[in-house]
Amino acid sequence: MSQFKNDRFLRAILREPIDRTPVWIMRQAGRYLPEYRATRERAGSFMTLCKTPELACEVTLQPLARFNLDAAIIFSDILTIPDAMGLGLHFVENHGPKFERPVRNEAFINSLEVPDPAQLAYVYEAIKLVKHDLADKIPLIGFCGSPWTLATYMIEGESKTNFSIINKMLLENPSSLHKLLDKLAKAVAMHLAMQIEAGASAVMIFDTWGGMLSTENYYEFSLNYSKQIIKELKQYNKNRVPLILFTKGGQRWLEPMAESGCDVIGVDWEITLKEARLRTKDKVALQGNMNPAVLRETAEHIEQQVAAILSSFGQGSGHVFNLGHGITPDVSPEKVSVLIDAVQTLSPPYHTGMSR
Ligand code: CP3
Repeated sequence: MSQFKNDRFLRAILREPIDRTPVWIMRQAGRYLPEYRATRERAGSFMTLCKTPELACEVTLQPLARFNLDAAIIFSDILTIPDAMGLGLHFVENHGPKFERPVRNEAFINSLEVPDPAQLAYVYEAIKLVKHDLADKIPLIGFCGSPWTLATYMIEGESKTNFSIINKMLLENPSSLHKLLDKLAKAVAMHLAMQIEAGASAVMIFDTWGGMLSTENYYEFSLNYSKQIIKELKQYNKNRVPLILFTKGGQRWLEPMAESGCDVIGVDWEITLKEARLRTKDKVALQGNMNPAVLRETAEHIEQQVAAILSSFGQGSGHVFNLGHGITPDVSPEKVSVLIDAVQTLSPPYHTGMSR
């Protein structure tokens, strides 16, 4: 028996029988919610919101008060790690993250240290507060960025689309880049282990920019380090807390991802879940994969898309419904209710004969 009153999310990951498909939404606590915008305003800045455990807890719980979700995700950010490594992070309004001291040479990489857990204690404190308030109703997900994705922000210094600086380093000085990725892998493994210790029941690696790499480079500079994290985590993760690996644009590499030791692959909308399931041979569970843009369409359109995705995965357990990337700030919360209701009413037939 699980400790959770609603354990559909964890059972789906283990591909155990459930009554219906579980659902949660990437960035479920975010700017599309007026109550998030109000708390964010009160905090004064995004980083203050992240670093004040009571406020991070409040924001984590906001979508759960509105929607019947099957999992919570801790409110934080992947860039807390580079911030703790001393790069000086702030968020520029309508622009995104910016580092005061981006990584530009090997001497700087050599000087970087894996953060002490005490520097990220605000994340673990927030997890403990959320765990307490959830009272075992649903599981809480912890998360981090992949070393590759963190490195793109740390080297470029801000959100970019052409990645010219990191690409130059990859081509001209791959050993420096490997040094940085290795330190980040150690930092991420530590951060995930601490989130698990604080009460996270699953963890997710966001590899937002893995999809921009060539296949050889994806293996060498991204997947390798996710594997290193998974391996390291297994040593002190006695409860076998499951791990979700999400590479945006990573559909080319589903087979090696399924062999990485992760329990779930996050899938975006570039492929159907049918194809993803066939290619991963039910070795892992799948999470996804509705295009967030569908949430701008009518209720009928959203219901049709939910139906198509459920049917594409097909019969049985092993699917966690989600978007294929984070929800955008322009979405109306009512549309999220439509999506969640549709998953709840349309998914039971895919679990017939299997419910507990
Ligand atoms: O999913 C959740 O509800 C948990 C919270 C969460 C946030 N960021 C809060 C956030 C999670 C899981 C993340 C992960 C994250 N952060 C990623 C990977 C996921 C993805 O979307 O691909 C990345 C690349 C980041 C880095 C980051 N944080 C960027 C580039 C930005 C600016 C762009 C944007 O969307 O505004 C952020 C800011 C951020 N992180 C916001 C939220 C709710 C919005 C900031 C605000 O409130 O002003």
